[in-house]
Amino acid sequence: EAAPVLTIDGPGGAGKGTISRLVAERLGWHLLDSGALYRLTALAAGKHEVSLDDEAALAGVAAALDVVFLAEDGEARILLEGADASRAIRTEQVGDAASRVAALPAVRQALLERQRDFRQAPGLVADGRDMGTVVFPEAPLKIFLTASAEERARRRHLQLREAGVDANLSSLLKEIQARDARDMQRSVAPLVAADDAVELDTTSLTIPEVVDRLTELLAKRG
Ligand code: C5P
Repeated sequence: EAAPVLTIDGPGGAGKGTISRLVAERLGWHLLDSGALYRLTALAAGKHEVSLDDEAALAGVAAALDVVFLAEDGEARILLEGADASRAIRTEQVGDAASRVAALPAVRQALLERQRDFRQAPGLVADGRDMGTVVFPEAPLKIFLTASAEERARRRHLQLREAGVDANLSSLLKEIQARDARDMQRSVAPLVAADDAVELDTTSLTIPEVVDRLTELLAKRG
């Protein structure tokens, strides 16, 4: 009997990362941050001077990713080839490269099994774009989390400022819109809600309200 999976998909900045982490903590379940795998692939490609146009080489980078996810006293750290990459993968530049790399079918294929390996007892919260449509199509509960682009830009701006990163609100909004378009229009695993996903617009909800909503939904399904 496979462990249960809660998939949380949606556009960047809708709060998936924070919500997924809090729901996983509340349930005591594992967490898959699939976006981090695409970001790590982009970062590793840069390190090894692999061109973002070389699909086969990028798939090789993805397949060979040497990554360790650590959770120490509530703080998640990610090691790439033994070095802490937790901050380096969060820059807009790496995010942009990640979304280009993520449009390549061979890269997505190379990361598929690695993502499915996160499904372990007692359960998994899987955060991404195609968790409910491609990676875990049989998940018992699928959430599609959205928020207006303006609200997402505002949140990302706050988040970056808290992390001590300088950012411009209007250029963040433009980047979010460009990335949405690329994620939705790509031919493989485009960003789209699964037919059986529950859509939740978080524009005017607080984080605790969303976490409560999801745990209630899960209790009903389970
Ligand atoms: O969620 P995050 O912003 O970290 O993801 C970075 C990029 O990786 C996204 O813009 C998207 O293009 C890609 N991605 C994806 N499929 C996923 C998760 C992320 O294509 N499951």
